[in-house]
Amino acid sequence: MSAHANDKPAGQLTFEEAAEELERLAGEIARHDKLYYQKDAPEISDAEYDALRRRNEEIEKRYPELIREDSPSKRVGIAPAEGFGKVVHKVPMLSLSNGFADEDVTEFWARVRRFLNLTDGVELAVTAEPKIDGLSAALRYEQGRFVLGATRGDGREGENVTENLKTIVDVPETLKGRDIPDVFEVRGEVYMSHADFEKLNERQAEAGRPPFANPRNAAAGSLRQLDPRVTASRPLRFFAYAWGEATEIPAGTHSGMIERLQHWGFHVNPFFRVCTSADELLGFYHEIEENRASLGYDIDGVVYKVNRLDWQQRLGFVSRSPRWALAHKFPAEKAMTVLEGIDIQVGRTGALTPVARLKPVTVGGVVVSNATLHNEDEIERKDIRIGDTVVVQRAGDVIPQIVSVVEEKRPKGAHKFHFPDRCPECGSHAVREMNEKTGKVDAVRRCTGGLICPAQAMERLRHFVSRNAFDIEGLGEKQIAGFYQDGLIAQPSDIFTLEERDKKSLKKLKDREGWGETSVSNLFRAINLRREVDLDRFIFALGIRHVGETTARLFARSYGTLEHFVDQMEKAADHDSEAWRELNAIDGVGEVLAEAVVDFFAEKHNREVLSALRKAGVRAIPLPAQETTSPIAGKTVVFTGSLERMTRSEAKARAEQMGAKVAGSVSAKTDLVVAGPGAGSKLAKATELGIEVISEDEWMEMAGSQ
Ligand code: IVH
Repeated sequence: MSAHANDKPAGQLTFEEAAEELERLAGEIARHDKLYYQKDAPEISDAEYDALRRRNEEIEKRYPELIREDSPSKRVGIAPAEGFGKVVHKVPMLSLSNGFADEDVTEFWARVRRFLNLTDGVELAVTAEPKIDGLSAALRYEQGRFVLGATRGDGREGENVTENLKTIVDVPETLKGRDIPDVFEVRGEVYMSHADFEKLNERQAEAGRPPFANPRNAAAGSLRQLDPRVTASRPLRFFAYAWGEATEIPAGTHSGMIERLQHWGFHVNPFFRVCTSADELLGFYHEIEENRASLGYDIDGVVYKVNRLDWQQRLGFVSRSPRWALAHKFPAEKAMTVLEGIDIQVGRTGALTPVARLKPVTVGGVVVSNATLHNEDEIERKDIRIGDTVVVQRAGDVIPQIVSVVEEKRPKGAHKFHFPDRCPECGSHAVREMNEKTGKVDAVRRCTGGLICPAQAMERLRHFVSRNAFDIEGLGEKQIAGFYQDGLIAQPSDIFTLEERDKKSLKKLKDREGWGETSVSNLFRAINLRREVDLDRFIFALGIRHVGETTARLFARSYGTLEHFVDQMEKAADHDSEAWRELNAIDGVGEVLAEAVVDFFAEKHNREVLSALRKAGVRAIPLPAQETTSPIAGKTVVFTGSLERMTRSEAKARAEQMGAKVAGSVSAKTDLVVAGPGAGSKLAKATELGIEVISEDEWMEMAGSQ
């Protein structure tokens, strides 16, 4: 193979090679910095990264005249990710004065009338609309096109979040209609619905990230993402309710303006009323308060605004709030009660969630006896003990939460809660995994009982028969649910004994509702067709955590038969074993995945599921033989360094197609190393072990000729 500058020790480089190497290192290190600091997705270990920097330093020491302008030694990491640009609000974004009691509203009404000097016969109209609990934003349109979007900030200056706002479906790129002023800045609230908030928190939990406390925090956190792609993945909404700078105000009243905004393509709140007395305002307030829970998003009160814009102008402002508006807030929904116990709930995906059992208490008109505690770290962080008096809050209108503990009220006997390490539903081990990306332990503890855990069983069965797994025609989600509920199918092997059992049963399947002679015999035929299934589908069907189709195929290729795979996974439970090392050496298998597979087979229940399947006559067929004439059939190949003519995954796929196993690290079991430019320690190890090493060109020839 040809020698590359990056293979030579720093001390042996010629002047030209050193220059070339420093250029390469500057680029490489900058790339890894970006991956690490900005994308939170490092590709190399800290040790490998340090080695790159050390090498850069060594070369620079030897040839100081070659130190580059963009040398990594001139900066530490990367400058903190650029924040957002600032936007000065030409018309300040003010706040509203608050009222809580009914009298605050009647006083507001009287104050406005007095200020405007309205005589008895003159009607005052005031609008009422919900006060959305999100964060306000200003959207600037020029010639009807969205050009600049900003957060409120301190009211005078906000952040430029244009790109993020563009990802919100409710924010039109261009306005509809003809009567659009040259410049018009729309103001309104960015918010998240309850349903979307809950889904987002589920996703957060899945990814081992802490949950958002409430939809408003979730909306704010999502809008203020440096990467608009992240914002785009968060379901934000927008209600328009006001405006800032405008070259023209096309209506004379607030209600007229709201109509115009809607006409232009904005979402405006459907609850809106023009009232002509304080009593009417209060009527609207109480109606909204009653319906609050069914809106599907958080509101924290009602906003009243004098309808005539010329009167608004006359009323003007007191300090930072308009005299023409009032926010009538809902009373805070908090209450104190006693934490009587903590239950553990097991979700469909096996996540163990602690639920607070509370002495029932009314919070904002609703009796609350349960509250979420999110996860075990949360219990620890808030030092919540059983017997404690706690403050409960209905966060917006979502699931009640425990805000804090009233420590003065802690009784002597209050004891810490010990989070179980076994699943309360099935007794399997419950574990917290390591998140490979963040290097931190997941906040969520999960049951490893998969196939036998009743909390997860139905979901697992559904997965087992799904299209890319056993793919049993006529046995979909609905049928599985029905059979599961009636106790006919509790675990995968039951599918394959269904026909036998039906023969002996008095209550025949064909007599069940929705079934008949033909559909039942079709089902049995479909089931029988799947008594033999490809090994990769079989492995995928087991629903082992982190084992998707690709990984399942990888295992099927690497281990050949089901028996060998299971045997090796059982042996790999011993981390000193050859089986564990081999598992980790498979290219594409990281520690988290390796642990998950080993944990799965360590559970007796899961092994029983497998033997029950075997007993029911289900066989996994090894994948079709690979190209046997290829020179690397049956051999273990390692790719190292950067490949220039093929991507790494392409090379890997090709090698596998040629019957080779692709490993991620060099060991005595390696037969061949393909070394591209930049190959380092793996190449050194191969040379040391006397393993055959070929260049990328030679590999291309080998791959191409096959
Ligand atoms: S009008 C001059 N209308 O409440 C005031 N504000 O406490 C213009 N808010 O910063 C605001 N819903 O974020 C208005 N229907 C609504 C609102 C609303 C929510 C928020 C807004 C503002 C805060 C003031």
